[in-house]
Amino acid sequence: MSGEYESTYAAALANPEKFWGDAAGAAHWFEAPRTILDDSNAPFVRWFPDGKINACFNALDRHVEQGRGEQTALIYDSPVTGVKATFTYRELQDRVARFAGALAAQGVVPGDRVIIYMPMVPEAAIAMLACARIGAIHSVVFGGFAANELAMRIDDVKARVVLAASCGIEPGRLVDYKPLLDQAIEIARHKPETCIILQREQAPAELVEGRDLDWRQVENAEPVPCQPMLSTDPLYVLYTSGTTGQPKGVVRDIGGSVISLQWSMRNVYGIEPGEVFWAASDVGWVVGHSYIVYGPLFNGSTSILFEGKPVGTPDPGTYWRIISEYGVKAFFTAPTAFRAIKKEDPQGEYIGKYDLSSFQTLFLAGERCDPDTLHWAQDRLGIPVIDHWWQTELGWPACANCVGIELLPIVPGSPTRPVPGFDIRVLDETQAEVAPGQIGALVIKQPLPPGSFTTLWGNDERFRASYFESFPGYYETGDAGYIDERGYVYVMARTDDVINVAGHRLSTGAMEEVLAAHPDVAECAVIGVADAMKGQLPLGLLVLNDGVARSSNDICGEAIQLVRDKIGPVAAFRLCDVVQRLPKTRSGKILRATMRQMADGESWKVPATIDDPAILDEIGQVLHRMGYPAV
Ligand code: COA
Ligand code: AMP
Repeated sequence: MSGEYESTYAAALANPEKFWGDAAGAAHWFEAPRTILDDSNAPFVRWFPDGKINACFNALDRHVEQGRGEQTALIYDSPVTGVKATFTYRELQDRVARFAGALAAQGVVPGDRVIIYMPMVPEAAIAMLACARIGAIHSVVFGGFAANELAMRIDDVKARVVLAASCGIEPGRLVDYKPLLDQAIEIARHKPETCIILQREQAPAELVEGRDLDWRQVENAEPVPCQPMLSTDPLYVLYTSGTTGQPKGVVRDIGGSVISLQWSMRNVYGIEPGEVFWAASDVGWVVGHSYIVYGPLFNGSTSILFEGKPVGTPDPGTYWRIISEYGVKAFFTAPTAFRAIKKEDPQGEYIGKYDLSSFQTLFLAGERCDPDTLHWAQDRLGIPVIDHWWQTELGWPACANCVGIELLPIVPGSPTRPVPGFDIRVLDETQAEVAPGQIGALVIKQPLPPGSFTTLWGNDERFRASYFESFPGYYETGDAGYIDERGYVYVMARTDDVINVAGHRLSTGAMEEVLAAHPDVAECAVIGVADAMKGQLPLGLLVLNDGVARSSNDICGEAIQLVRDKIGPVAAFRLCDVVQRLPKTRSGKILRATMRQMADGESWKVPATIDDPAILDEIGQVLHRMGYPAV
């Protein structure tokens, strides 16, 4: 080991202003910042507060100015439609500048919010960059969410314009986005003025006269230049699941994003300008924002936007085909995708069919990486497989094996060590630091580095109360874990009601709110149970109102449909049963953790505070009937 990681980490910790001030020198500024950090109003920390910058300029224009105009910026590969396309930096700049002109023609001005509800098509990236170009704040909504979730976001962010596609393509079915959008606008109290709809030939949509415009008819507007913005102005709002049904609007600023993402491309992922990086996620998630669109482009690299699934489109060799075809150097996905591939191609026969000589590092994140998956990937690919840990709130990896700095020994089960800038600690409930190896709350000492969230949209108080109240001076991650003697971090479980299904972050609280609205349901609990493929699945237990005589099967079927309709297919809510009562403490708190331990087959104890221990027998029988713990 060279000690390079230790010294870089120590430098970022000892003098964050010097460290990030130096990193800021790699970006283009309309006005360079004189102040690097203002933490006088913690936890509201402002990086580069007097700098003027534009994210789109840093993603596109400066690379064109510096001679990268003919280099490929973005590759679109869509096995589900059979379409492939590439965009050079110059072409992408032109498309973005024109679409930005189209937005401006609709009256969009700096600070306006624009919702993007689109599948994985290049226009989604163009839309994001066009917003950034004119200083509008985008808020991308993942296509797997239902109308109700979209409506909540439209209302919260008060979107002036919505950019959407007519449809998305999922295995075996078309997802008509437009009717979902129409329904969402009907539900929402706030009505967007304009919708610009990308008509896809697979399912064109009907446009609403006076409100909807056809993307193709407006996209070639007069190009507009990049608007200089304050570094602390929001680049985007991205909603993520919290404890309640009301999602949290994570706000990311412009300067912090540019500096952190460009820095991380080289130092975390080991990617240089001109090299090809692929994150197989979706623009609706933070990974898509940071590492499909912004990070690779800030860095002058080539990014891949993939529309499809790891298996079945057409076979479990799709990932390897893409890596080979485009010379991908580093690839990032969620472990669940590897579990899906491993199931269909256990021997990794498809891997051998492709020349993967460009492929140097595989990065996994989004959920706990089980050692089996890590070993399988490592053995079959013969390259370092790097688990790394972060969150929507943080914007970029907080804990990783930073291959661009120094490859540390890989320890299965650990996303390795804190990334420079993130001072990760483990605290107990008395806020004291625990000894190495002991589990506690994973927290990060303030200030968070550039690129982390700056607040929750329109809700400074929720930002403060949710993340900075329990452990004063620290950011509470919501994850529990430990740090070993060598400084390796281990992330064990969430401490709240958030679960992780196929790498997608979901709120059990939100599902409970939906289930509780069923007319026959008196109360309910949703817990995350282990699943071999998706990591976790939500499982719902319903207590019915007195006197309900309808069949439990019918009610559960309706409950499942209700979650699909209200939250969306992404919730993957399929496990549901009726129980007579739920186990509770004497003060009435539902014992979700105990039920989860029972379902997962973990060792568990009857809680001392339980109201009536006999209830657990019934719960055990119901879980067993549902196949939990797995037999
Ligand atoms: N639009 C509409 N529906 C969507 C969607 C989208 N963008 N994405 C997923 N869905 C739907 C799926 O079609 C599925 O619907 P179904 O119940 O009718 O089958 C449902 O939501 C659940 O989706 P998912 O949990 O993703 O399961 P899947 O079987 O479709 O795919 C994986 C499983 C593992 C292949 C997929 O989740 C994957 O590729 N994950 C890895 C990459 C990733 O997304 N990472 C996120 C953060 S790094
Ligand atoms: P999201 O905000 O959707 O990125 O989800 C963040 C959450 O996913 C974290 O708080 C963790 O619970 C989980 N997570 C992400 N990456 C990892 C990882 N490498 N190991 C364990 N859990 C992870």
